[in-house]
Parts: sequence; structure tokens; C-alpha cells
Amino acid sequence: MIERAAAVIREAEVFVITAGAGMGVDSGLPDFRGDHGFWQAYPAYAQLGLSFAECATPQHFIKDPHFAWGFYGHRTNLYRNTIPHDGFNIIKKWIEHNNAEYFVVTSNVDGQFQQAGYDEERMYEVHGSIHRLQCQARCNDRIWRNNEVFRIDESTMRAGDPLPRCLVCGKVCRPNILMFGDNSWLHNRTLKQNQAFDRFINNNSGRRIVVIEMGAGEAIPTIRKISERIGRKKNATVLRINPREPAISKPHMTMSCGALAGLKQIDELFFKKKKERSLCRCL
Ligand SMILES: NC(=O)c1ccc[n+]([C@@H]2O[C@H](COP(=O)([O-])OP(=O)(O)OC[C@H]3O[C@@H](n4cnc5c(N)ncnc54)[C@H](O)[C@@H]3O)[C@@H](O)[C@H]2O)c1
Ligand SMILES: [Zn+2]
Repeated sequence: MIERAAAVIREAEVFVITAGAGMGVDSGLPDFRGDHGFWQAYPAYAQLGLSFAECATPQHFIKDPHFAWGFYGHRTNLYRNTIPHDGFNIIKKWIEHNNAEYFVVTSNVDGQFQQAGYDEERMYEVHGSIHRLQCQARCNDRIWRNNEVFRIDESTMRAGDPLPRCLVCGKVCRPNILMFGDNSWLHNRTLKQNQAFDRFINNNSGRRIVVIEMGAGEAIPTIRKISERIGRKKNATVLRINPREPAISKPHMTMSCGALAGLKQIDELFFKKKKERSLCRCL
């Protein structure tokens, strides 16, 4: 399987990189796998008996904004301070080597691909980004960069003042992320990214596409479905890397391991074969 994955990647003209929360695990970020995974990452919410879905709702920004920003401010700080693992660089290196086109599709809101040097214009963040803000009351359609500083009391997970505010109406604002039970998410930025991705796929149809999917779970299967949809195109092959939920139907490929470990294994073959080939040409 690894040999085949390396061969497909070596021949790829187009890379579609799809990622869920598991992509961040090797950078030290928590996924929110079940209540226990979430509570392990955030013991304060275990004490309060609150699940991820109960913390991630827009109602908190209305009823208790210090609580709401405790959760999102903590995560903003965490993602800002995280160094993306080497797997991000490995894929970038392959793309450059092949002189290939690429696009990133992710349900993560953490901006880790941009942090690793991927182009903001080649990004489809299906659930939005924590690094962008919007009005909680939707008094206007503006989405702006999150340059706020957050101070969080980790024993209570509450944010200190001042809280970030809407540039127009002055109410406490919120991250531009699709939350649970969310009627006020502004999706215009994500919609533009979606349209850019659709154009990208149309412009590259017929070329050799590899979809490299990492850390996308079955619980919220948005990313897996996108990978599989692109995988149905002519000349497209999906490689799914996932230690716990690796299933995918043939002819697509799967590796049941962490993203970094999987990418490193392929990388060794990718360059070994390249070296062997150039050696052959020399002889
Ligand atoms: N960093 C973020 O932005 C972030 C963090 C947590 C959750 N979320 C979002 O919340 C939703 C649900 O989150 P969730 O945690 O249940 O995610 P999820 O359902 O995507 O599950 C995580 C997946 O990652 C896999 N995984 C675990 N370790 C891995 C590794 N080292 N390498 C590759 N894969 C690995 C697991 O097998 C699982 O399938 C998703 O939309 C997700 O994107 C985002
Ligand atoms: Zn407003």
C-alpha cells in the first residue's frame, strides 16, 4: 500500500489535501473525540459536565460572553502558539517537487495550514476560522481578522475583560465559526472559498489528482464525503490516513496510522524511488 501511495503521489499533478481534527494531533493539539477526549483536553468542562457540543454554541455569546470567550479565546491562543508538525512540510515539498497545483479543504478552524505556509487563497475552511470575527447579532456582514489578546483563567475557563466587540454595533462579537445550533454564522467568506475550490476542481478535471485525507472522523463526516466525492472523478485517487477510522473502498488507499507517521513513511519511498530513477538515467 505504501509503495502504491508513493507512486500515485509521485505522479500527481493536482493535490487536494483534506483534513479533520486528527491532523493537529501530531502537533500536540487535542481532537475532541467523544466526551472523554474533550474533557481530557479541558478538565474544567468535565467539572461542569459540559460536552463539546454544549460549549460550542452561539447562545453563550449572548447569555454569558465571558464563558463563551473562555472556550474560544483559549483555543485562539493555543492555535496561535502551535507549530505545525513536519507532515505539513512533507506535503508542501511533494507539491513543489511535482510542480503541482493544490487546494486545502479542512473542517479545522485552527489556521494550521496557513501557519505552515500554505496559501490563504487555496483554502476552503468548511466550518470557518477562529482567526476571523463577526458580529454575534449579525448587525452587518463584515468578517474581520482576529487580532485580539485573550486572558483566560484556566481553572474556570472564563475570559477576562476586555472582550472583543463588533466594529459596528459594539456588542461582544464571536468567532466566524459554524457552531452547534447556529443560525447567526456568516458564511460569506466560506462560500467564496467553496466557490474557489469548485473552480479549482473544474479547471483541473482530467488531470491526475491525489486526495490526501488526514484525521477526518466519521462523527461529522463532511470532510470524508468531500474526499470521496473528488475520488469518484476520473484519474483521482484518495489516500486516507487515519489510525482509528481508516476504512475506504477500493481502488482508494488507506493507512491506519497517524498523519505524521504515514507521511514520513511515504516520503522515504518518494525520494528513494526518485534517487533510484535519476541514478538509472545516469548509468
Ligand atoms: N483544531 C481544530 O480546528 C479542531 C479541533 C477539534 C475539533 N474540531 C472540529 O470539530 C469537529 C469534530 O471534531 P473531532 O475531534 O470529533 O474530530 P473528528 O471527528 O475529525 O475525529 C478525529 C479523527 O482523527 C483521527 N486521528 C486521531 N489521531 C490522529 C493522528 N495522529 N493522525 C491522523 N488522524 C488522527 C481519529 O481516528 C478520528 O477519526 C470537526 O469538524 C473538527 O474539524 C476542530
Ligand atoms: Zn454588530
